[in-house]
Amino acid sequence: MAETTAGAALLRVRDLDVTYPGPVPAVRGVSFDVAPGEILGLVGESGSGKSSVCTALTGLLPAGAHRRARAIEFEGADLAALRERDLRRVRGRRLAFVPQQPMTSLAPTTPVVRQLRWYLGDRLDDVEVRETLTGIGLGSVLDRPRDLPGGFSGGQLQRVVIAIAALAHEPALLLADEPTTTLDPTVQAQVLRLLLTLRDKLGLALVYVSHDLAVVSTICDRVGVMYGGRLVETAPVRELFAAPRHPYTRALLAAMPATTPADRPLRAIEGTAEGANLLPGCPFAPRCPQVLPVCRERMPEPTAHGAGTVRCHLASERVGA
Ligand SMILES: Nc1ncnc2c1ncn2[C@@H]1O[C@H](COP(=O)(O)OP(=O)(O)O)[C@@H](O)[C@H]1O
Ligand SMILES: [Mg+2]
Repeated sequence: MAETTAGAALLRVRDLDVTYPGPVPAVRGVSFDVAPGEILGLVGESGSGKSSVCTALTGLLPAGAHRRARAIEFEGADLAALRERDLRRVRGRRLAFVPQQPMTSLAPTTPVVRQLRWYLGDRLDDVEVRETLTGIGLGSVLDRPRDLPGGFSGGQLQRVVIAIAALAHEPALLLADEPTTTLDPTVQAQVLRLLLTLRDKLGLALVYVSHDLAVVSTICDRVGVMYGGRLVETAPVRELFAAPRHPYTRALLAAMPATTPADRPLRAIEGTAEGANLLPGCPFAPRCPQVLPVCRERMPEPTAHGAGTVRCHLASERVGA
């Protein structure tokens, strides 16, 4: 069965739709699971709907936006049926979210250390705060008790915000939306290491959003690939790299520097994603080198492939044969 993964899911999303005012649907029919302690990467180019999936799951969609889903089950409770107010109670406790611009979640005129104590103080005394932060490589922040957010680097602040999200309320799942996108590679690595440490120490599951498949491949157990508001493929990370099923995933991999021999130029994906969300069929059909007539007519349901799923008529045909 295409929809299930081994073991009980921590988060189970089925047929999630997100719309903003206007005719363009941002997310259509997205289904995926996250297992306890698992790191799921969500990749796709800008505008593919990754942030909308996160904000819909946490009840933070802006006014006028709507989410609809057949199921959003989190720790056995159906969030799809919850009202916004009740959803917010879950959010920030068992389900934590680090938004795409995390700096905005720190007050600019209050020392960072005081904000850390404020957020973590309910659960941890001063000694425990120091121990915990030292354990995740952030102890030195406490030696700067008077410094405002502006006195820290972007990478340090990003780690502080992640630490607050992960430590303030014992979440089971942390959604991190492009937490390393604006950082240089060395600092990126520190943030990734922090996320791995948190997963290992706290048993957290993570949804790690990025437009960069190379970054995702370094920390994720499983990857979901989004295009034009659709989740077109999910697979364990090694399977995705070894045997990508969806033509869009293949195109993404071909465009990655690390997989391209130096004597061969990078292959950019021809065309644009413009208008993809409005197509009745597969959003990638206009750019797909293997497009079939049926691809322009309807989007296939997810098909199981190994430990993953793919929404592609080519794959469905092979399976059906
Ligand atoms: N607040 C908003 N109001 C209107 N449209 C939005 C808003 N946020 C996102 N969208 C639209 O939804 C689609 C998906 O965007 P988003 O979820 O931000 O994608 P990603 O995070 O993958 O870049 C895009 O077409 C984008 O323009
Ligand atoms: Mg985004």
